Amino acid sequence: MSALVEVKDICKIYNPGENEVRALDHVSLSIETGEFVAIIGQSGSGKSTLMNMLGCLDTPTSGTYFLNGQDVSTLTDDEQSDIRNKEIGFIFQGFNLISNLTARENVELPLIYRGVPKKERERLSEESLKIVGLAHRMDHKPNEMSGGQQQRVAIARAIAAKPPVILADEPTGNLDSGSSKEILQILKELYKGGRTVILITHDNGIAAQAKRVIRIMDGHIVEDYINEDVVF
Ligand SMILES: Nc1ncnc2c1ncn2[C@@H]1O[C@H](COP(=O)(O)OP(=O)(O)OP(=O)(O)O)[C@@H](O)[C@H]1O
Ligand SMILES: [Mg+2]
Repeated sequence: MSALVEVKDICKIYNPGENEVRALDHVSLSIETGEFVAIIGQSGSGKSTLMNMLGCLDTPTSGTYFLNGQDVSTLTDDEQSDIRNKEIGFIFQGFNLISNLTARENVELPLIYRGVPKKERERLSEESLKIVGLAHRMDHKPNEMSGGQQQRVAIARAIAAKPPVILADEPTGNLDSGSSKEILQILKELYKGGRTVILITHDNGIAAQAKRVIRIMDGHIVEDYINEDVVF
């Protein structure tokens, strides 16, 4: 059995030449189905660059990436967006909701792109909004909700199509500590329910709550360990 995520010797070099930036410098890692991994590092260490690779949002300068056994570098742009839609649910620091759509409509949007029929879309979107505790806010627009609630809508949107991998880049970066706790609790529940959760953060306190921690510094992986004392 191959790993769900298998990165082999990836480099990402911006501006090759004299002023080049090695955002990722020979990174290898593998993540199995059902893991809860925090990728931690300081600002500029390469976290978002790595997330973009893992999420098939960008291609590496060199190295290979297998997602669910498929060599992503051999796929066309269309095939990459297909695999992205099918395998990955994204959560971003800035929520990225559409302001003139309700919570329900925001969650349904990616399901429309996937060609899910209307009735099924409604069912999936209600189901995932309930999971994140927003049954009572389904018809509210983003500006009628708190930051924490907006991020919960974004999580509902990420999980609605039941992708195996949840990829979150600083999901609590814009939230107060109470809302951050709620969001982390939801991610833990998703992990307990069998999803693979990859959480990108610069916060040691958040990373300490994940089962496995991968630390990145200057584009290198410098630590990769299991948090033995974390309990769910
Ligand atoms: N498009 C780009 N062109 C040139 N350099 C870039 C580009 N994107 C990122 N970089 C550089 O690559 C390095 C890694 O950036 P990245 O965004 O991955 O860091 P990060 O760990 O996500 O930081 P933060 O915590 O601030 O979000 C940085 O030195 C950054 O300046
Ligand atoms: Mg970043």
